Amino acid sequence: MKTILVTGGTGYIGSHTTIELQKLGFNVVIIDNLSNSDIKSLERIKSITGIEAKFEYGDVCDKSFLDNIFQKYEISSIIHFAAYKAVGESVSKPISYYSNNLISLMNILETMTKHSVKNLIFSSSCTVYGQPDILPVTEETELKPANSPYGNTKKISEDIIIDFINSGADIRAVILRYFNPVGADMSGKIGELPQGIPNNLMPYITQTALGIREKLMVFGNDYNTNDGTAIRDYIHVSDLANAHISAMNYLNDKPTKFYDIFNVGTGEGYSVMQVINSINKFLTSPLPYQITERRQGDIEKIWADPSKANEILKWQPIYSIDDMTSSALNWEKFLRQDK
Ligand code: WQD
Repeated sequence: MKTILVTGGTGYIGSHTTIELQKLGFNVVIIDNLSNSDIKSLERIKSITGIEAKFEYGDVCDKSFLDNIFQKYEISSIIHFAAYKAVGESVSKPISYYSNNLISLMNILETMTKHSVKNLIFSSSCTVYGQPDILPVTEETELKPANSPYGNTKKISEDIIIDFINSGADIRAVILRYFNPVGADMSGKIGELPQGIPNNLMPYITQTALGIREKLMVFGNDYNTNDGTAIRDYIHVSDLANAHISAMNYLNDKPTKFYDIFNVGTGEGYSVMQVINSINKFLTSPLPYQITERRQGDIEKIWADPSKANEILKWQPIYSIDDMTSSALNWEKFLRQDK
């Protein structure tokens, strides 16, 4: 039976993509080394779809492990999420980020070719654009030097895929440049699972909303934006998950030695204060926050022009910012009961 291999599939975006794949009847095999995710994701996925994804515990950097997986399953497409992704951590551990993120990708490319698997969907990031000079961002927008080793691994990964295909590799690939994934499956039974103190805005907001954190630190309100706080293109994780399925379907009737790149955002930019105003609609008392200094490395504003994905992938995001904040809050509440 045709199988979709999801690397990093117990992680935040990987688990949500597995759910959407299973809802459409795809058979999913997850590879994960659980370095930044919880095995509980498997039962949470099953509680939503009723289907147990096949799980292979292991590291994509282990080429013999990966080769065995390709021998064991009849894989039709690979969706490659497995990577380290903490911007700040990457600054203090660059070698770990370069070796993990790049060796895993190169193993995937060589092993899929060896086993004549054609389709690769790769998880990239809008971080490759840095602070764009012109907004919204299209796929032709000039890339800027990455402001973290993490961001640089995404840029280099894109180059590795493109160079490999241009060398004549018999594969076809879609590179998806995510904007800011947030929120949780609308069932409220699965969502983001940051380890320790959240780096990202949304989980910090939901933990503050539940009193786990005293208050949200808003990193700067002196940006050149309407309310002075930084703007991002937040996208619901389920909308992002569905973009992977659209990308996989798009690849199926393409020749090999082919690749394409898509921005996956909503096209709407929201400031930190606008996100706070959104979640306040679902709280009995306003979210406590304090304006502090800017965070080093942050850009001021970015949002996507998603028209290429809309038109060519025939993909449209359906969830609003209020869906994003309310679903994230519902998941936080569920998580605290599920402890
Ligand atoms: C969003 C906004 C912060 C926390 C990063 C990576 C990106 C992707 C998503 C992996 C910014 C502000 C945040 C807080 C705040 N990761 N903020 N207080 O930095 O846009 O993107 O995560 O793929 O590649 O670069 O996301 O959620 O950290 O921040 O004010 O406690 O919220 O300054 O303006 P970011 P974020």
